Amino acid sequence: MTTKSIAILAAALFAAASLLTSAPAAAAAREIKITGNDQMQYSVKRIEAKPGEELKVVLTAVSKMPKTEMAHNFILLKKGANPDAFVMAGAMARNTEYVPAAKKDQILASTTLAGGGETVEVTFDAPAEPGEYVYLCSFPGHYAAGMKGLLVVK
Ligand code: CU
Repeated sequence: MTTKSIAILAAALFAAASLLTSAPAAAAAREIKITGNDQMQYSVKRIEAKPGEELKVVLTAVSKMPKTEMAHNFILLKKGANPDAFVMAGAMARNTEYVPAAKKDQILASTTLAGGGETVEVTFDAPAEPGEYVYLCSFPGHYAAGMKGLLVVK
């Protein structure tokens, strides 16, 4: 093999390698559409996912009420977090959209608040560890009214 043919071969390999690396990225996150209503309920109360699966939660608030009276968010808590304690602290945290700063380390993923007609979203990777993870709305009173669900990783 001549030096020239080696150079051509190397160039061809390089071109093939760059073709591979410029291939389209992995499939987009799986989208999960949820609505929240004036009855303080999510339309989706159970989400199943594979460990590490990329998810995109899209939450729309369906309401004609003012945002200060009726708004929803989606907050996914770490395993072992106490949802009751979280929402109790959250109810006091009006300035941070009812997300308690002292308990931020318990959050795996969260959206901002959506008022009537608004849509918020968050993209995240499902936990690697199989199990059940609670998600909830931290607007005062909503969790107690049943605005919660489970992300089941298996
Ligand atoms: Cu809510």
